[in-house]
Amino acid sequence: MRRGSIASLVGIGVVAGGIAAAVAVFLPWLPTPASREAGRIDFVFWFVVVICIVIFAIVVAVLLYAVIHFRAAPDDDSDGPPIHGHTGLEITWTLIPTVLVTAIGIVSAIVLARDDAQGKNVLRVNVTAEQFVWSFSYPDAKGLTSATLRLPKGRSVLLRFTSKDVIHSFWVPEFGQKEDTVPGLHPTLHITPDRLGKFPVVCTELCGLGHALMRSRAIVMQPAAFNKWLHGQSKAVSSPNPAVAGGAVFKNNGCGACHTLTAAGASANVGPDLDKLPQYAQQAGQALDAFVRQSIVDPNAYVQPNYPKNVMPQTFGKSLSKQELDALVQYLVDSSKKG
Ligand code: CUA
Repeated sequence: MRRGSIASLVGIGVVAGGIAAAVAVFLPWLPTPASREAGRIDFVFWFVVVICIVIFAIVVAVLLYAVIHFRAAPDDDSDGPPIHGHTGLEITWTLIPTVLVTAIGIVSAIVLARDDAQGKNVLRVNVTAEQFVWSFSYPDAKGLTSATLRLPKGRSVLLRFTSKDVIHSFWVPEFGQKEDTVPGLHPTLHITPDRLGKFPVVCTELCGLGHALMRSRAIVMQPAAFNKWLHGQSKAVSSPNPAVAGGAVFKNNGCGACHTLTAAGASANVGPDLDKLPQYAQQAGQALDAFVRQSIVDPNAYVQPNYPKNVMPQTFGKSLSKQELDALVQYLVDSSKKG
């Protein structure tokens, strides 16, 4: 090959590689990892992508070079030179891919093994999926159930899945792994959260009409704050005092993000003012206790005028335990009478 030809080959390769690398690197394809496992998985992804970019650039460069330099003149009807292989080249383009594919296999196997390796003091969380709700319970805290997945930063967490009906799939993009919940099976997933924050929990298996709405949140907390929450909640929810138990359920399920309730120090106004529940019950023509229960379990049965339907989640009837629901109803009835 002439020196000029090699220079133009390299030039084309650099341009093609630059464009492919820019597309790969500068577009935000992946969420920022929030677990050690996701960080390792991202590493494997970029390891493979970089190899692909290099191979892609070489192939495109050779292709473009051949198209430009070996194009036959329009009036050239002669046969090309009789070429018979090139042993050196054959060995090269067999050996290099073999080495690369083996390297990808080894890196992947190491990452898989490390992602499954549980640390000490594993936190177990039972995840229940049903149409169309996630709920999370903590066996080490007397089965405390939460509608959000709260986790401590830096600790090994083993999620154990149960489906009550059809196949769902658990996914927190920032944690980097998915797990199908198959009825009758109890698969597990190991994660080690390593970034504080709130992340979406998504169902990624078409599971029925409410599939798109089957969402929750994962909240990664400082270990001390998590332990405080866990112990405080499990103690509070089982308290015989409805003000304590119901107050904990109210806070735990984020009711204060949308509603006003003086007793809970909540002052949001997305949904109806819960200090006015006795007045609303009267407008709906129902007894206060029954009205409050219905509004939690089946919020669309009666919607306060001037508030839209379908904003209040229709899932609390499923995600709250009977004990929690009773406590919450009692708490709301008592607090609103005072309010
Ligand atoms: Cu559950 Cu989709």
